[in-house]
Amino acid sequence: MQQNVQANIDRVASDIETLATYNSFPENPGVSRQLFTDAELEARSYVKERMRAIGMSVHEDAIGNIYGVLEGTDPSLAPVWSGSHIDTVLSGGKYDGIVGVVGALEACRIIRENNIPHARSIVVLVFTSEECGRFGMGCIGSRAMAGHLPLEKTKELHDDAGISLYQELERLGYTKLDYNKTVLKHRGDVFASVELHIEQASMLEEAGYPVGIVQAICAPTYICVSITGQQKHAGSTPMDVRKDALCAASEVILTVEKLARSYQNKHTVATVGKIQVLPNSSNVIPGQVDFMIDIRDIDEAVKTELTQKFHDAIRSITAARHLEYSFDVTTDDLPCSCDEAILDAIADSCRKRGLPEFKMTSGAYHDSLLISEFTPIGMIFVPSKDGVSHNPDEYTSMEEIVCGVNVLTDTLIALSNRETLS
Ligand code: GLV
Ligand code: MN
Ligand code: MN
Repeated sequence: MQQNVQANIDRVASDIETLATYNSFPENPGVSRQLFTDAELEARSYVKERMRAIGMSVHEDAIGNIYGVLEGTDPSLAPVWSGSHIDTVLSGGKYDGIVGVVGALEACRIIRENNIPHARSIVVLVFTSEECGRFGMGCIGSRAMAGHLPLEKTKELHDDAGISLYQELERLGYTKLDYNKTVLKHRGDVFASVELHIEQASMLEEAGYPVGIVQAICAPTYICVSITGQQKHAGSTPMDVRKDALCAASEVILTVEKLARSYQNKHTVATVGKIQVLPNSSNVIPGQVDFMIDIRDIDEAVKTELTQKFHDAIRSITAARHLEYSFDVTTDDLPCSCDEAILDAIADSCRKRGLPEFKMTSGAYHDSLLISEFTPIGMIFVPSKDGVSHNPDEYTSMEEIVCGVNVLTDTLIALSNRETLS
């Protein structure tokens, strides 16, 4: 019987720690690495160098997704993918996304070092901007692959400084590549994909399970709201004649919380985490407030219903205060299920290693959600201490990460030698 392969904890730790040093704001808590900033570009170079050191060929597509290819014995077969993201939220942790990229690299290193045969090529992916950070849209790379982000649309996505995603793609030379040929993927292009990720919640820790097998992924809906009132003097304007955009936004935000809570279910959640007050001055009544509502659910119908309820609430709150508003749904992704055969392959590895087979749902979204439109997917979760993520205190022990990498490695070996999934 073939011995279980073992990930090398020092190599995994070293890659994670090195990536954490690429940080735009080292003076702030945690790691901040938004798309195409200097820190992110350095992190991309580091990963590409690590890929080449394994003997992978490396290329990028016109939206900046990175592909490291470990060639199989039959490169004519559709490859198996594994990867995640290396961008972070502002003041995020060291593990979200990183574990999936570093873990896939380590899996390939082990396969290579041990000359483990694999008929299909194994491709390690770094997806462009999974976080909904700099350009107000998440899963940019995987969304583009699935055909939901045409190049023209990148001209409409701007960061807070007014720079468009297109301008950044142009600055970095990506617009020289053929967008449709290099980015777009179709069913059959990829045999299967498996993403390793931290759980970002506390189910595994509470249950004492080292890994989770993800069955389904909740999807986001993003709504950009702008409320316009009247900017006026804070001292000379009586309370009864004000049109305060921030007071209206505050009512809306509390209503968002109340409506989402009314579903009393852990997968129905809504958040306002980004807000801009204009002119943002202590002695001026706010004339305009822009904010974003983030809704998640495993049930698309519930997201649609909540979107409608939020719209109704904003309409009536602003009408009562004689204010104007705009309401723009910028992202509305569909929840997805993971592929049963891939789940079985992950479960086989758990059995082989004496680990419990714990099935669960992901409340966070992942690039796997978008690529599920053109390939069967699976995800492996490792625990997050106290369920904390998108926070400098995000933590998963190296032993837990290595356990996930081992399961990932087994799964990639099994899938890359399969003729068919079923
Ligand atoms: C991904 O980071 C998410 O917001 O779920
Ligand atoms: Mn992530
Ligand atoms: Mn994240």
